[in-house]
Amino acid sequence: MLTNVFPSQHPLVAHKLTLLRSKDTKPKKFRELIRELSMLLCYEATADLDTEPLGVTTPMGQAAGKELRGGIGLVPVLRAGLGMVEGVWEMMPGAEVWHIGLKRDERTLQPMQYYANKPSQPRVQVCLILDPMLATGGSASATCKLLKEWGVTRIKYIGLIAAPEGIARLQADHPDVPIHIAAIDERLNEIGYIVPGLGDAGDRQFGTA
Ligand code: PRP
Ligand code: URA
Repeated sequence: MLTNVFPSQHPLVAHKLTLLRSKDTKPKKFRELIRELSMLLCYEATADLDTEPLGVTTPMGQAAGKELRGGIGLVPVLRAGLGMVEGVWEMMPGAEVWHIGLKRDERTLQPMQYYANKPSQPRVQVCLILDPMLATGGSASATCKLLKEWGVTRIKYIGLIAAPEGIARLQADHPDVPIHIAAIDERLNEIGYIVPGLGDAGDRQFGTA
């Protein structure tokens, strides 16, 4: 039993992920599917966010309402995480977006940081890391480490496909970070790609394959 790992059970997610995986899916459709899947996964991942009471006046009288407590930080990991921002942001337009640039060294598979836009006030209720692929887990672990160094106390990872190796690494390094994904695949291959996966998520979004 995996604890703190939440593969979506939603039929819409399974349907869209199947289309996304296909080698015949072109970049435009690929980007649309990433956007839609991100919205669905975000909906599931944010079910336990904190709210506080907020009264609201309707045309008919008073109603008891709620508002989200504190800010939310969306943390897309460049490049591939960029495509996940739009859909999530649509559902929480008040969120801040904190970009982190990481690129895996193709030989060592270690993430190399080339960009980090540290917010002036990194005080939010929660940070949502957005990155479609959890392969070795090195990039996700490095992102959690950076956010914790900035003082972030609550982090969730939202991705599309995870390898068992990536889940194990992220859980070992950051057991407090829940992992929300569309699917857990079989394994990593010898060059660190997820099998069966979907190929290179960045190249397929940006047409650079
Ligand atoms: C991909 C992906 C993750 C990372 C996952 O990015 O978007 O960030 O690999 O691999 P890991 O779990 O082994 O660290 P990549 O480094 O290929 O950069 P890109 O998005 O710019 O193509
Ligand atoms: N990054 C990708 O884009 N795909 C993989 O399968 C692994 C890392």
